[in-house]
Amino acid sequence: MKLLVINGPNLNMLGIREKHLYGAKTYEDLKAFIQETADRLQVEVEIFQSNHEGVLVDKIQEAYGKIDAIVINPAAYTHTSVAILDALKAVNIPCAEVHLTDVSKREDFRKISYAGMACEAHFIGLGFEGYAKAMEYFAQK
Ligand code: DQA
Repeated sequence: MKLLVINGPNLNMLGIREKHLYGAKTYEDLKAFIQETADRLQVEVEIFQSNHEGVLVDKIQEAYGKIDAIVINPAAYTHTSVAILDALKAVNIPCAEVHLTDVSKREDFRKISYAGMACEAHFIGLGFEGYAKAMEYFAQK
């Protein structure tokens, strides 16, 4: 099984950005956590991050025919990007949505998730553990 984990804008700033919300661990720590989880589950994983909507759309399109499942935290694009929603629908690869924080308990504008509409599973507000749960979900499927 080959998983693609996609992270959207500003997640590369983990450990620096709004530590009271996102914690002190860095993006490098997150990448190491995801890789360790993949090793434990004996699945292959590619980890990708971009701050650019079109680059994220390109990455999803490139996954077509090559990737078995996508785990995505589209970050701020969650709440704005019909393009990412359409890309996920276009490739029709099983997809799970992850958010570090509980977006349902934050500002109203974070309550809508476009990308989430294309996802079959949602792991929200669990911190790094949400990525592990999403990867386990696909590994067990
Ligand atoms: C986030 C939540 C989003 O609302 C926010 O824009 C992010 C991170 C999360 O993981 O909690 O950048 O996706």
